Amino acid sequence: MTEHFQVHGGARLAGAVDVVGAKNSVLKLMAAALLAEGTTTLTNCPEILDVPLMGEVLRSLGCEVTIEADTVTITTPADLNHHADSASMGKLRASVCVLGPLVGRCRRAVVALPGGDAIGSRPLDMHQNGLRQLGAHSEIEHGCVVAEAEGLHGAQIWLDFPSVGATENILMAAVLADGTTVIDNAAREPEIVDLCTMLLQMGGKIEGAGTSTLTVHGVDALQPTEHRVIGDRIVGATWAFAAAMTRGDVTVRGVDPHHLDLVLEKLRTAGADVTILEGNAFRVVQRDRPTAVDFVTLPYPGFATDLQPFAIALTSIADGTSMITENLFEARFRFIEEMIRIGADARTDGHHAVVRGVARLSSAPVWASDIRAGVGLVLAGLCADGVTEVWDVFHIDRGYPGLVENLVNLGADVRRVAAAPERS
Ligand code: EPZ
Repeated sequence: MTEHFQVHGGARLAGAVDVVGAKNSVLKLMAAALLAEGTTTLTNCPEILDVPLMGEVLRSLGCEVTIEADTVTITTPADLNHHADSASMGKLRASVCVLGPLVGRCRRAVVALPGGDAIGSRPLDMHQNGLRQLGAHSEIEHGCVVAEAEGLHGAQIWLDFPSVGATENILMAAVLADGTTVIDNAAREPEIVDLCTMLLQMGGKIEGAGTSTLTVHGVDALQPTEHRVIGDRIVGATWAFAAAMTRGDVTVRGVDPHHLDLVLEKLRTAGADVTILEGNAFRVVQRDRPTAVDFVTLPYPGFATDLQPFAIALTSIADGTSMITENLFEARFRFIEEMIRIGADARTDGHHAVVRGVARLSSAPVWASDIRAGVGLVLAGLCADGVTEVWDVFHIDRGYPGLVENLVNLGADVRRVAAAPERS
């Protein structure tokens, strides 16, 4: 039995929605708990599938993990198993983030190649090169990344591209290396800053969080800590797009609006009134049909690739023609095939997509290919005539806590339905 969502088009979303901790932060913070013997507690964690999956990965390494509502507690032993090859490894991308901590703590790691969203090729060369520069040997062997080091030493590391995962893995190995490591062209995402904040609380010595140059002075050992996960800017932006697309009025709470500066500016260009409110909140009001607007995905502070499906969904109903450029993951345009099923007028040419806005979309069965594509189809369904069925919603469950409940609270008619699919 596979579940699907039935999305009834036509509602104007109105009200307030609370956003909890970021998927792409909590999973890395869970990996960081491996760096210190003892009990680490994370709060404001999202209740999504990927959190227990990551818990399984940590348990296979010898940790005790408990998950109660929004709190994850991880007790890390003195002796870790350095072999991460549990079945859960292949179910999420973030599992690869145990690599850096294991090399840091154990000086060796065998980490099964990760799974995660099918959004294009996702090599690990920068992760491995960074570890090599810290003194480790690293190869891919029998489906695993293997890394071994006699000792880890500080190094000057230039990343070819500000990769989020590579920055995280190198950072988490470097905190326990001898001497000083400088990571240049490092990723600047707020989730990297959150990781640095937690590592600092654990006794790590890091300068430059949130800039392109991270300087890490290695220490002998770290201590466990208690940390509150930052709000999920991608989920927050999802609600902002939902408001703009449904000509709604939505207040989003629990996300730092400055993490969305460019996104909110783009929505203003599309005609939304955006107000920044006190205490990590903002309000998006859209009165008329959105107007066309171009988007280019780039590493932070650029427009996030994770929001690209929402950009396509918004521009597909906008007044005018928009150009969307995808610079990170080539397969993310697969989403457009599903959008065409519900009447979008869009075509791709390499890493560009041209979207001619139509006055209305027309409901049809559609299939989610990854987390964000799935939610993009839900948003598009809200703007379509009739009832859109969105299948393969297990993708959505990996990243969006209580999506249906939140939509219903904002006035949408969306239902989760269990039934067997038939796809020709
Ligand atoms: C993280 O993936 C996120 N995942 C992704 O979120 C997000 O789309 C991506 O960062 C970019 O923001 C998690 O945090 C779990 P990258 P990551 O390394 O770390 C290339 C979502 O929907 N690259 O920054 O895997 C790579 O191919 C998802 O939540 C190499 O060439 O992304 C890509 O083109 C999906 N070699 C670019 O860099 C490497 O060694 C950026 O990837 C590493 C990356």
